[in-house]
Amino acid sequence: MAWLILVIVIIVLCFGLVLLRGAPYLPTMSKQIEAALDLAGLKPGQTLLELGCGDGKVLIAAARRGYNAVGYELNPLLAIIAWLRTRRYGSRVQVRCADFWLAKWPQANAIFVFLLDPFMEKLNTKIVQYNGKKVKLVSFAFKVPGKKAVAERDGVYLYQY
Ligand SMILES: C[S@@+](CC[C@H](N)C(=O)[O-])C[C@H]1O[C@@H](n2cnc3c(N)ncnc32)[C@H](O)[C@@H]1O
Repeated sequence: MAWLILVIVIIVLCFGLVLLRGAPYLPTMSKQIEAALDLAGLKPGQTLLELGCGDGKVLIAAARRGYNAVGYELNPLLAIIAWLRTRRYGSRVQVRCADFWLAKWPQANAIFVFLLDPFMEKLNTKIVQYNGKKVKLVSFAFKVPGKKAVAERDGVYLYQY
């Protein structure tokens, strides 16, 4: 019985503590993932950075298109699931169990997020400071305040930085 309580406490902590640092876990639907990848318009071999990669669904879709993909995930349980699910793509997909606000992001051609309104302003600031190079942001469901999306499809917004 004690082990069951321990398991429940660990699960609650893993999913609950993330709320202090970002959006809770909610997977993007397949239609929106395809829309996001279409909007990002990457070429095979280019890199997608996913901030909060959940169970790895978007990383897998990106790898299937021949892209490299790097996903940050703070919840260690989800990071393990994403890592296990993406092993078959080898070094093309990396899963990093870390807080994406604190991490030094790798070079990427596009960034995918499914966050929440309160984090979009902070995200905008972080992307502006990210590097001097051009990068696309594709955001499911939430807009960047004060910035005009260059395209929109199925509730996914594309921004050019
Ligand atoms: C709304 S879910 C989106 C999951 C996935 N991107 C998808 O679209 O299917 C947000 C994810 O971001 C993770 N997350 C939230 N804040 C984070 C942070 N500061 N660093 C890393 N991951 C974070 C959550 O654990 C959750 O898995």
